[in-house]
Amino acid sequence: MDTLDQPTVLLSGDVRMPLLGYGTWQATGEAGHAAVLAALDAGYRHVDTATMYGNEAEVGRAVRDSGLRREDVFVTTKLPPDRVGRERETIEASLRALGLDHVDLWLIHWPPSAASDSIPVWRELLAARDEGLTRAVGVSNYGTAQLDELIQATGEVPAVNQIRWGPALYDRRRHAEHRDRGVVLEGYSPFKTTDLSDPVLTRIAAAHDVSPAQVVLRWHVDHGIVVIPKSVTPERIRTNADIWGFSLTAEEMRDIDALGG
Ligand SMILES: NC(=O)c1ccc[n+]([C@@H]2O[C@H](COP(=O)([O-])OP(=O)(O)OC[C@H]3O[C@@H](n4cnc5c(N)ncnc54)[C@H](OP(=O)(O)O)[C@@H]3O)[C@@H](O)[C@H]2O)c1
Repeated sequence: MDTLDQPTVLLSGDVRMPLLGYGTWQATGEAGHAAVLAALDAGYRHVDTATMYGNEAEVGRAVRDSGLRREDVFVTTKLPPDRVGRERETIEASLRALGLDHVDLWLIHWPPSAASDSIPVWRELLAARDEGLTRAVGVSNYGTAQLDELIQATGEVPAVNQIRWGPALYDRRRHAEHRDRGVVLEGYSPFKTTDLSDPVLTRIAAAHDVSPAQVVLRWHVDHGIVVIPKSVTPERIRTNADIWGFSLTAEEMRDIDALGG
């Protein structure tokens, strides 16, 4: 635990990122605002949005309405793939909508469709970081070869790669490839990729008197993988954040890893 009062992972540039975040895709409008506010009230200190989600204004308003200090909430947003050449105006629009003077993490949402755009876009993210518009920069939906291309061209390692992840997608080698490069793996869609009635998950959940969803989230965190569950249901928002009262044994971790085949 640290000043954020949450287990965190250290990104380059001495930026601490909470391992548990709140995903906001499809949490829009007043319902989105209420859900983010409920999430911050439930203890999340990290919110994941994107230009493409169309909810940055509601996310920013909820952060302000929460009464939390800006430095106690980690905010991520993402550059859509169709903004090549317009990166700077896109982050400025994100900051305006969020009502913030910087975000904590800015990601390239998907690799640009033209491979020749990859390095120039990455350089624009680095420039935004150097100007203080974001504390850290990274990517999303990148393969290992695409990470290496950025690192080799600029000597700058993406702080994070946000990719689809969950027990059924567990890939020890891919995880190690991130670790070896100093890229923090952030998983998205932890539930959509998981059969929550899987007997391995229900057995482990019963042993700890928690839900299979909580086991899935704890499994990410115990691997040092950032996870960003989404829910607009108040009870689920609360229980998804209540994962600090138990931890998984080495054998349970191995059993869940094995769901990745
Ligand atoms: N970088 C990318 O390309 C990318 C792509 C997809 C997602 N993401 C990010 O990752 C976040 C999470 O991914 P996601 O929204 O795709 O999927 P998810 O978090 O895996 O699943 C969300 C779904 O699970 C339900 N749910 C939530 N808690 C549950 C629980 N305890 N038990 C059973 N069901 C539960 C939610 O229902 P209710 O809401 O009705 O409760 C919703 O239908 C997104 O919100 C977004 O921030 C990023």
